[in-house]
Amino acid sequence: MKKKKFAIIGNPISHSLSPTMHNYWFKKYNIDAEYELLDIDKNEIQNVIDKIKNKEIKGINVTLPYKNFVISFLSKTINDANETHSVNTIMLDEQNNLIGENTDVFGFQAAYLKSIPNQEKNDKKVLILGAGGVAPSIILALLKSKIHNIFLSNRTYEKSLFLKKKFKNLNIIKWSDFSKELYKFDFIINATSLGLNTTDEFNNDFSNFKKNLVYIDTIYNPAETKMIKYFKSNKVRTYNGLNMFIYQGQKSFYLWNKINPEVDDELLKLLESKLG
Ligand code: ATR
Repeated sequence: MKKKKFAIIGNPISHSLSPTMHNYWFKKYNIDAEYELLDIDKNEIQNVIDKIKNKEIKGINVTLPYKNFVISFLSKTINDANETHSVNTIMLDEQNNLIGENTDVFGFQAAYLKSIPNQEKNDKKVLILGAGGVAPSIILALLKSKIHNIFLSNRTYEKSLFLKKKFKNLNIIKWSDFSKELYKFDFIINATSLGLNTTDEFNNDFSNFKKNLVYIDTIYNPAETKMIKYFKSNKVRTYNGLNMFIYQGQKSFYLWNKINPEVDDELLKLLESKLG
């Protein structure tokens, strides 16, 4: 049988560890397949989609900035992709319909929310920073995990209002105002792209944080953004985006191969060795 092909599309994409992770699992489970990076412009998406339709490529992951844009190329979106309008996994179904699913929601839940005891969820107050591609997945993951006290702040105010149309109970805070409200939050989640470049810095004051705050950054490369370093040095529990990345990938792998791949120590070591 011919080698199965998988890929990730996005722009920029060179930082992605998806090929490393999926190729590790293909080897582990003896699947004759390869997964590659496709750094493509918008006008090349149709070409990749055609390759899925004619079965040259079995499935793709989609990352920024195409998670929403790619929907117009699909026959339909399913499950979490319906609710978030954000697609990160594409494949053909049994009737050869091109379908888009979202595994970021599962990724966020599996990585950070599973371990919170149910009785504590009602009390948790969460601040999400950013209203870009990953924000709707985080909101849905929190809601599915029964965390409803969600606040969001974005530099461009209009974009946060757009999310409120989708998620009616979302509380919006102006970008210039969140610093003084910071002490109210049990979780702060960075869903902006600030931190992808090691020189990136928030201009906001983060000193007014609550005791026992947990800080989650959706960025995994670099492993430690300036914000993670700041909170770590202030003894705050921090997580980077690596676990979310791994679990979204685990679900994509399952959707394509019907095998639930193990997140083992060798994989973790391999991924960590590639991070800056
Ligand atoms: P898009 O904006 O196209 O959805 P994204 O990478 O999915 O792209 O989202 C980037 C997020 O990071 C946005 O929330 C963006 O804020 P704006 O909506 O105001 O652009 C945020 N972001 C990026 N650079 C930022 C900066 N220097 N300061 C604050 N927020 C920033």
